Amino acid sequence: MTETVLLIGGGGREHAIARALVPGCDLYACASNRNPGIVGLAEGFETLDETDADGVAAYAEEVGATLAVVGPEKALAAGVADALDDAGVYTFGPRSAEARIETDKAFQRRFMRDEGIPGCPDFETFDDVEAACEYVDEYDGDLAVKPAGLTGGKGVKVIGDQVTREEAKAYLRESDYDRVVLEERLVGEEFTVQAFVAGGGLRATPAVQDHKRAYEGDEGPNTGGMGSYSDAAAHLPFMTEADYEEAVEVLEATVEALPDYKGVLYGQFMLTADGVKVVEFNARFGDPEAMNTLPILETQFLDVLVAAREGEPLPELEFAGEATVCKYAVPEGYPEEPNAGAKIDVDEGSAGDALLYYASVDERADGLYTTTSRAFAVVGVADSIAAAEEIAEGALSAAGEGLRVRHDIGTAELLEKRIAHVHELRG
Ligand code: AMP
Ligand code: GLY
Repeated sequence: MTETVLLIGGGGREHAIARALVPGCDLYACASNRNPGIVGLAEGFETLDETDADGVAAYAEEVGATLAVVGPEKALAAGVADALDDAGVYTFGPRSAEARIETDKAFQRRFMRDEGIPGCPDFETFDDVEAACEYVDEYDGDLAVKPAGLTGGKGVKVIGDQVTREEAKAYLRESDYDRVVLEERLVGEEFTVQAFVAGGGLRATPAVQDHKRAYEGDEGPNTGGMGSYSDAAAHLPFMTEADYEEAVEVLEATVEALPDYKGVLYGQFMLTADGVKVVEFNARFGDPEAMNTLPILETQFLDVLVAAREGEPLPELEFAGEATVCKYAVPEGYPEEPNAGAKIDVDEGSAGDALLYYASVDERADGLYTTTSRAFAVVGVADSIAAAEEIAEGALSAAGEGLRVRHDIGTAELLEKRIAHVHELRG
């Protein structure tokens, strides 16, 4: 039987999901922006707000979807997986109750503490701004200030890194967050491990390192992620295989405590002097990380989805054993004052050996336009990070005027800095 899969979301992550599914199924997609990469692969595309749960479920029924995959967290938070499941369309993505592991950081930390999940930093949650400010004054050490709700990765302020204690308090007072988490600042190197989860089982994928800061040298404000790399092995050059295994064990403990979880469970980890700590969980693929993981997945992603729906054990995953480097081209001014609505040219022909993924661009009758978010990504795949970086870099000439890139991602210089940092921490 040919499966009919509905994909929700219009970013680079979803373009990578679409490419992992087509050919192999009939793909339909819906998103608020017309992503030309997804439109080109899908049998049908509907412009729909990703948080319109009823609209998405109605479209799934209209196209006769037998499976659905949800990309963005805001759709999960809005109950899109619940609405699709309830309409009889098995959805690879958690229901809103399980998605709270991402959508509510206060819940996430309490869950970790109550369930004894390893790697939880010291934390307190607050719904009173002045009580939070008092805690900032009294806490012995640096803190991370985290709004409990979704902020696209841009709401966190780290004392001693991005802000001073006084600035953190001013931020708390200016923002009208209902609840915040204040937690111990973790110092180390960050990495991501994503896993496919269903029926209480888990299949982990190779580690990836994203680059959240807007500018080269890890300067500037946090973004949704400017680019990322993975190595030919499951772990990254600055970590050991044992560090990777420690992260997978955290994910396993999490799934054990959330037996109904289905979809991608994404762990953001900090490799610290005291081992692997959890920065956060996400309830979906990372964007950009999906663009590192899916191109080297040799197992059919559709087989994972079908096994999940059928309640069968998920297939063992095979990976190509190649390194990947992903670089995003973003609108000038991103993330603070992105130049949205600018007409851009993307020359697919000049991407060479790199994969090109469209992200938050909007295809109109007369061409491609930027939105407020990342425009497109190029991914190099090769037997080493250095070779993959060269391929990605060579493809960036596909970006015309009005776009910005972090050229340092995946370079030898940056990797050496990461390795030296971990050496220094571990002594
Ligand atoms: P999150 O939205 O929780 O992923 O946070 C965004 C970014 O803030 C993370 O990728 C980290 O760089 C940083 N961050 C979050 N929590 C902490 C922490 N406890 N210590 C240090 N940095 C953190
Ligand atoms: N790249 C980080 C995220 O998708 O949240």
